[in-house]
Amino acid sequence: MDTLPHPEPLLPLRAWRALQSRGVRYAWHKTLRRSLGRWPSWKRRLIYADPRAYWTHRGGFDYFREQEGQVGRTLRAEWIAGRLAAYRPTSILEIGCGYGKLLRAARDRTDVPLTGLDFSRSQLASAGAFLEGVDQVELLLGRGDRLPFADGAFDMVVTSAVILHNPPEVADRIRREVIRVARRFAAHNEETNLSYNRYGYDTAAWYRAQGFRIAESGPIPMDPDPEVSQFCVVRVNG
Ligand SMILES: C[S@@+](CC[C@H](N)C(=O)[O-])C[C@H]1O[C@@H](n2cnc3c(N)ncnc32)[C@H](O)[C@@H]1O
Repeated sequence: MDTLPHPEPLLPLRAWRALQSRGVRYAWHKTLRRSLGRWPSWKRRLIYADPRAYWTHRGGFDYFREQEGQVGRTLRAEWIAGRLAAYRPTSILEIGCGYGKLLRAARDRTDVPLTGLDFSRSQLASAGAFLEGVDQVELLLGRGDRLPFADGAFDMVVTSAVILHNPPEVADRIRREVIRVARRFAAHNEETNLSYNRYGYDTAAWYRAQGFRIAESGPIPMDPDPEVSQFCVVRVNG
């Protein structure tokens, strides 16, 4: 995949292209997302009732270009990948891997097997292109709250801006699945604030309340608002 951001064409042209390339439902989703800025509760009800449908519409080249155009996103992925590598995991599962930005940054810092799982086909398709030729990366379609892996299948399990997109009961199931399939470490970058597509959780507090030992917890240095940024690594075993 072309990794260089291009200048964005004007909105009517983008809407027309969206309609042409991905059909009426996608164009309608995009229009609602762009136009309901001042009504977040309506936005949540209309376009975030089903997070998987949302992410299936959201994923694709437009999303990829939008994200790759933000230097802060790259610096953050690199910082997180550096922290993950510091624990010398022997394998990593990323739940909600999106188009593979963090997996790619992780590959530059560790040579262990990497697995990415996501419930959005469009995100996974982008990941397949973005990670083409990268060694030892497996990508799977699946749900974070029902992982198709055995207990303790990965040394480290990671989520980055994923649990926060799920309502509380699903978020709880995802964390329990993380604990089930992780042998040693769970690592999370999950912001704590609310928006139309974000529930916001204090993940470190949840683990503490369950009696787990937190290896580190704090804001990511390059995030604009340290009050809502949270990266934590948890020892799930010992
Ligand atoms: C904001 S993106 C983050 C992608 C990637 N983790 C990163 O940091 O670049 C959120 C991703 O999580 C995925 N996702 C959200 N909830 C999920 C769930 N319950 N199961 C699987 N994937 C999920 C979405 O499809 C989307 O690709």
